[in-house]
Amino acid sequence: EKGAFPHFMLKEIYEQPETLANAMRGRLEADNATAHFGGLNLGAQQLRQIDRVVMTACGTSYHAALVGEYLFEEFARVPVEVEYASELRYRNPPMDRNTVVLALTQSGETADTLAALRESKRMGHTTLAICNAVGSSIAREADGGVYLHAGPEIGVASTKAFTSQVAVLAMLALYLGRTRHLSSTQGQRIIAELQALPGVIRKTLECHDQVKLVAQKYAGAKNVLYLGRQYLYPVALEGALKLKEISYIHAEGYPAAEMKHGPIALVDENTPSVFLVPRGNVFDKVMSNMQEIKARGGPVIAIASAGDHEVSAVADDVIEIPDVPEYLQPIVTAIPLQLLAYEIALLCGCDVDKPRNLAKSVTVE
Ligand code: M6R
Repeated sequence: EKGAFPHFMLKEIYEQPETLANAMRGRLEADNATAHFGGLNLGAQQLRQIDRVVMTACGTSYHAALVGEYLFEEFARVPVEVEYASELRYRNPPMDRNTVVLALTQSGETADTLAALRESKRMGHTTLAICNAVGSSIAREADGGVYLHAGPEIGVASTKAFTSQVAVLAMLALYLGRTRHLSSTQGQRIIAELQALPGVIRKTLECHDQVKLVAQKYAGAKNVLYLGRQYLYPVALEGALKLKEISYIHAEGYPAAEMKHGPIALVDENTPSVFLVPRGNVFDKVMSNMQEIKARGGPVIAIASAGDHEVSAVADDVIEIPDVPEYLQPIVTAIPLQLLAYEIALLCGCDVDKPRNLAKSVTVE
């Protein structure tokens, strides 16, 4: 089933133009400049009443939820809280009745996520799920939900599920936003941008050769830092998780500006930093964070907009990606980070699809 690919992980990385198209198929409504979802089971009035969303998940799905927080705030102005399912299940957070609990899970079987969902349901909250595995426990138990339609994800490291989760969150944010302040012109622009995404991801995958060179240079590192801001802060966390779980190299993700509050003490000539620095609102800020690392002798790998000379003048290595609006940058920047983890793990001789100590779905607490 891997076809021409040596590993499921690589196959799944390369499937992303199609899986993203599948996540969007039939869900974008150009006429009303909105999105719609068959299984959400929420009427317009209920939707209008939501005044808070609590997103809950584990691992990579948790990182997708963090991106969701930025998306929902920007498009729908709805307050969002993101909580690890393993924490939420034993907390007793005050939630009023217009709070919706949204679980994100690829497998639909993660024990903590299921328990958090059940506890929220027991307390009388409306529960929704964004899920990949059709008919899974969480898909069945949530009051409503959205499937990713990404097809089976076999590699233990989650890749295509992450990008589809973010795409579904963007569509949900559009849907919620259009019941509120988002104009039809804005809605139409978002739809056009989403529709262009599969093509953009196909182009992004062309960075693979650059990624291979970077992997060869840094595969011997013992520690790697991943840094990004705003929409790309969760992607920094995700990039670090990918590297840790399949190459066993220690990695940490941080909001780039937090460096100077402690982690910068780790920086030396053997500790590379991966900077997520495509063009956007915080570009200048991230550039100055990058200079701080350079000034301390840390090697810098930049994930940057194609042809960005300002970045290449500072970074030691650059991996180029196409430009997209900021809210889509988490999807585009995830691709080189998935490939980087994959290539480094291969060079380290690790079992990419089945890393030690890990299971594809964590069905124990
Ligand atoms: O199936 P789920 O999305 O609920 O799984 C959650 C995590 O166990 C999962 O994302 C895990 O962190 C992956 N191995 C990350 O690549």
